[in-house]
Amino acid sequence: MTRGTEEQGSAWFRDQRDYWWNEDFLALLAQRWRLCDVESLADIGCGLGHWSRLLFPYLSPDARLLGIDRRLEWIQRARQSFDDAYPTPVAAGKVAFQQSDATALAICSDTFDVVTCQTLLMHLAEPFDGLKEMIRITKPQGQVICVEPSNLFNMMSFDSLTPEEDTETLVKSFEFWLRYQRGRIALGKGDISIGELLPGMFAQAGLTDIRVYLRDTAFPLYPPYADPEQSATLEPTHAWKTSATGPWDYDQVRRYFLAGGGSATMLDTQFSTLREQSQRQRRALSEGRYSAAGGAIVYLVCGRKP
Ligand SMILES: C[S@@+](CC[C@H](N)C(=O)[O-])C[C@H]1O[C@@H](n2cnc3c(N)ncnc32)[C@H](O)[C@@H]1O
Repeated sequence: MTRGTEEQGSAWFRDQRDYWWNEDFLALLAQRWRLCDVESLADIGCGLGHWSRLLFPYLSPDARLLGIDRRLEWIQRARQSFDDAYPTPVAAGKVAFQQSDATALAICSDTFDVVTCQTLLMHLAEPFDGLKEMIRITKPQGQVICVEPSNLFNMMSFDSLTPEEDTETLVKSFEFWLRYQRGRIALGKGDISIGELLPGMFAQAGLTDIRVYLRDTAFPLYPPYADPEQSATLEPTHAWKTSATGPWDYDQVRRYFLAGGGSATMLDTQFSTLREQSQRQRRALSEGRYSAAGGAIVYLVCGRKP
């Protein structure tokens, strides 16, 4: 699940991100987006390159790829991850990285056939500015492709323990995460559910031929939780076993929740509920009683620059 971690953290670069895409689904998208004709692609907010590394083999054989991130550390590691993933002649000279801010890219207008991002806009205080920059550097008739989640719903996904919860607890939980999300936005930390807004933003920015897809990957958990994907999904849960606050950073949650209009009393009640839920989940996992279908809403939205 793509929880609303601080974008500066590295929680979202855990192993689970390696299972984000089914290979045959990527091949289908590559076909829909006609990536075989694409000779230049820019990945904005590339992080360690998880997204563009997957798209790279589908591009035209001589295509060049530019990964951009504002953090130097990520682009250095992204370069390494391309080197590790592809034999040198494949990527040599074709893949480059640049440190730049998504809202003020140091790139000429009308440069790339495709400009894309995965979970970048959700971290921007002004996501529309980021989108406009992506469009600016796209060639006329080129495509903009954004992959962004709807994390409020992902946080509320049900599992085998949900039927034990009373309705009031679930309603409170929704209010809690809604206030958390709104507080994040108010503090300029980005909208963790921005996926829902992308089609409208694309239309407002003047893109045409807008198409919207949903990622087809789910992260199911069921006993005995044995395969590598399930282990990767559970890995953070194991790491959180030793933490007093479970998976949650109390100070961060507090900041966002209060900024979203929540009260200090509700914060403490809700935080204990979260801790209890986390402990119940761990107990159920160890007893083989926990299961979840593991769906998460992640939109892929593409549009063409006129
Ligand atoms: C959640 S990570 C996603 C990384 C990568 N796209 C992926 O899917 O694995 C968000 C990335 O956006 C970068 N980022 C956040 N704000 C940015 C900005 N204003 N300009 C450029 N990069 C930014 C972060 O440094 C981070 O690498």
